[in-house]
Amino acid sequence: TVARLAVDPAFVVGELDRRLFGSFVEHMGRCVYTGVYEPGHPTADENGFRTDVLELVRELGVTAVRYPGGNFVSNYNWEDGVGPKDQRPRRLDLAWRAIETNQFGTDEFVEWARKAGVEPIWAVNLGTRGIAEAVELLQYCNLPAGTAAADRRVANGSKEPHGIRIWCLGNEMDGPWQIGHKTAEEYARLAAETANAMRRVDPELELVACGSSNRGMATFGDWERTVLEHTYDQVDHISLHAYYEPNGDDQASFLAAAEEMDRFITEVVATADHVKALKRSDKVMTLSFDEWNVWYQRHFPGELGLDIREVSPLIEDTYDVDDAVVVGSLLITLLRHADRVKIACQAQLVNVIGPIRTEPDGPAWRQTIFHPFALTAKHAGSRVLHTEVAGPEIETRAFGKVPALWSTATYDETTGETVLFVVNRSETDKVDLEFPAPSLELIEHLGLYDDDRSAVNSAADPDRVVPRKVDTTIVRGGTCTATLPPASWHMIRLS
Ligand code: AHR
Repeated sequence: TVARLAVDPAFVVGELDRRLFGSFVEHMGRCVYTGVYEPGHPTADENGFRTDVLELVRELGVTAVRYPGGNFVSNYNWEDGVGPKDQRPRRLDLAWRAIETNQFGTDEFVEWARKAGVEPIWAVNLGTRGIAEAVELLQYCNLPAGTAAADRRVANGSKEPHGIRIWCLGNEMDGPWQIGHKTAEEYARLAAETANAMRRVDPELELVACGSSNRGMATFGDWERTVLEHTYDQVDHISLHAYYEPNGDDQASFLAAAEEMDRFITEVVATADHVKALKRSDKVMTLSFDEWNVWYQRHFPGELGLDIREVSPLIEDTYDVDDAVVVGSLLITLLRHADRVKIACQAQLVNVIGPIRTEPDGPAWRQTIFHPFALTAKHAGSRVLHTEVAGPEIETRAFGKVPALWSTATYDETTGETVLFVVNRSETDKVDLEFPAPSLELIEHLGLYDDDRSAVNSAADPDRVVPRKVDTTIVRGGTCTATLPPASWHMIRLS
């Protein structure tokens, strides 16, 4: 089967906001402890940060990291995590029923983010706490010395303000599982007033209001409308969260999970624009897709039982080839909406459904999903282009008939590079792809696929699944031709 793809540098979706390559570190399972932070590990630096993990984070190309939760933040006292470590309290975290030792907190995360070269994104607790604590934390982080909160930071060793710009107003407040869960009205009023107060401390902030925890929530749509009716002038972004996994044996729909993400984004944009019309506003609300990934929730007990745990593994999914293809296709979807999606965070960064895995006191390694993320973050250019494909379709139980190929492209004026990202979602058929490449030469074609689609990486065999060079791809007579095997992800660079 043949597919013809149309792409032209004149047809631009939007400028790429590099914060699309964000990630997420939550105090959950082994993401922080024995993930990013493990004093005593052979690679730990003077702060107790694992430098093997820091190196992988840089290689992954992560640009921004959301912290400290997640569900965790909705019962977190940030004050517990600052000051002398031997005086920090041990607390029961109600979200994951775990003992939080508070050995890693605000100042540690800021320092870690600086070393990793990422922009920190902060979430405030609007579950058990409110305006006062958010404003105190913001002063602690962003004001120069001269208020009690800022002086406390200075006394703790950070003379200069942390200068954190992006703040999330709570986490998943629509979810009944959330500590301090609220109705849309309750949350919307609190978010608007918290935003007002926070802007009086620092008018330069970018604020994110909580949207729905997923598209399947009974309140989806109404929640966004109500929240934005109250907060439209106060916030900059509305959030989306989504996790994907196969439904039973329906692998075909799973490979097409990007359809679901695409519809979700389109619906949130429509809802935001509806509120814009109601308000006769000129402001365009943008989106922060601040939790997304493949997550096998069916393996998660949900009910955590009564055992209280301390640093034990939680949701450490091991990803296979299909999972990596899906992650690649979700990144393509985010790029396709670069005009409206300005921030996105893959959840999470290390161990907890992460592209990076670690062994306590042992090695760190790349999961299969590491690779499409790293290559997209490294090579996506500054401008996202429209692509249109005329080609085969596949039948899926969840979405009906969908195109087998899912694609996007970028162009970068500085490098002169055009980069095509494409997945073949057919489980059975290879596709011969053709697209115009006038006066262009092929730099490289890398693909991620395997005869064994269930192959995984592990500490013992960390490079079992890696991108491969596709050397059959050619440019001739102004046309590029490439063969895309079933269930595969690709990056084709030309200049
Ligand atoms: O990332 C795991 C959890 O998923 C987060 O804590 C929560 O926000 C979401 O439900």
